[in-house]
Amino acid sequence: MPAKKKSAIAPAKGKLGILMPGLGAVSTTTIIGVEAIRRGLGQPIGSLTQMGTIRLGKRTDGRAPLIKDFVPLAGLDDLVFGGWDIYKDNVYEAAINAGVLERGLVESVKDSIENIRPMKAVFDRQFVKRLDGPNVKKGKTKLDLAEQLIDDIARFKKENGCSRLVMIWCASTEVFLKLAAVHETLEGFEAAMKKNHPAIAPSMIYAYAALKSGVPFANGAPNLTVDIPALVSLARKKGVPVCGKDFKTGQTLMKTMIAPGIKSRLLGLAGWYSTNILGNRDGAVLDDPGSFKTKEESKLSVLTQILQPDLYPTLYGDFFHKVSINYYPPRGDNKEGWDNIDIFGWLGYPMQIKIDFLCRDSILAAPLVLDLALFLDLAQRTKMKGIQEWLSFYFKSPMTAPGLYAEHDLFIQLMKLKNTLRHLRGEELITHLGNEYYD
Ligand SMILES: NC(=O)c1ccc[n+]([C@@H]2O[C@H](COP(=O)([O-])OP(=O)(O)OC[C@H]3O[C@@H](n4cnc5c(N)ncnc54)[C@H](O)[C@@H]3O)[C@@H](O)[C@H]2O)c1
Repeated sequence: MPAKKKSAIAPAKGKLGILMPGLGAVSTTTIIGVEAIRRGLGQPIGSLTQMGTIRLGKRTDGRAPLIKDFVPLAGLDDLVFGGWDIYKDNVYEAAINAGVLERGLVESVKDSIENIRPMKAVFDRQFVKRLDGPNVKKGKTKLDLAEQLIDDIARFKKENGCSRLVMIWCASTEVFLKLAAVHETLEGFEAAMKKNHPAIAPSMIYAYAALKSGVPFANGAPNLTVDIPALVSLARKKGVPVCGKDFKTGQTLMKTMIAPGIKSRLLGLAGWYSTNILGNRDGAVLDDPGSFKTKEESKLSVLTQILQPDLYPTLYGDFFHKVSINYYPPRGDNKEGWDNIDIFGWLGYPMQIKIDFLCRDSILAAPLVLDLALFLDLAQRTKMKGIQEWLSFYFKSPMTAPGLYAEHDLFIQLMKLKNTLRHLRGEELITHLGNEYYD
């Protein structure tokens, strides 16, 4: 494929503010992680923007720069963090509560994190039944609340001297919502906010406020949030990139690594039984059937897309897929995920695969938050707007243009991400077609 022209990318000058609704386990692990890395106390393991390389040109060219040297990304020293939460704990206190990182590490960066205090949240218990807190905004209508968030965003930008902002939803999973008529157009959505319509969730109010402020938005939870026509059209109108939904970590990450392998070898699947124990606040929220339903939808969709039962009815036409999450406080953030996979091979002979993943949810999610913030900022400076499918790599339920199916295969997602970066820099796309076969 011939090399194209480089895209014009504005330089990453000045500070980048990362605003997060929800200062819980994931956000505090991200913030403290970045501070620890800045101070040389740890390495950014798991982050593609910090540790990943990208092959350019032919295999014999030997060109494989770091991604952060290939595209102009904000540097870690230029990041400033802020956020909202229904609890008043500052980032130091919230991190101690979350118990993800060792106390010694949290203490060692205390001076940089104790002054990050949550702004008052937009919250409604109807959407997260297992939580309640005092740090919540009051407003007559949902539009009033959005305007208060818009003021928060502008104040944060000014007070911290940021040249750019991004917003990443790291708050709790809301109850399951179906796409409704009020989500269809921007006019209808704004009218519904004025009338306090029950189908407008708090996460949508944050997303609306971000987009109105020209701030890119990523959704780390499975809620509908920005994945509605009204807000996607607002994003396009304001020239802002958006992406979501639901960080791909833990069990689903494993699933989208293993399933493409089973499919590549044309092994059949009879059933995939997945269960988890999890004891953090996220686990408590997901113990509510409404919030779990949102998560379940997100987790179940991946296998059908990867295995394509329509094309392979003999192999995948009739598999049983079950996912459950059980709240089990003793484990805290250290989740254990079990998978029992019943497969079949030559002549239909059955086999089993067992996975026991003792993972750490927020340790897996933090590098994703960092990468998404840096890539969304890059997209904004490149004038990319609307849904960013090339960032599907990070999500369990990637947002797509209407009518397109989401790509779930982790390896295709990574290829798409890297080819997008190559395209931006006018480099040849890599197709893995070797010329040697034709010599
Ligand atoms: N950790 C992972 O691997 C992972 C993977 C995929 C998705 N997620 C999602 O990321 C989100 C964060 O996970 P976590 O482990 O940090 O959870 P957490 O419970 O530790 O933190 C979420 C925080 O959001 C706050 N909150 C709830 N509603 C809010 C609102 N309307 N405005 C502001 N704050 C609000 C809560 O008070 C809480 O402090 C969850 O939705 C979770 O499902 C996490």
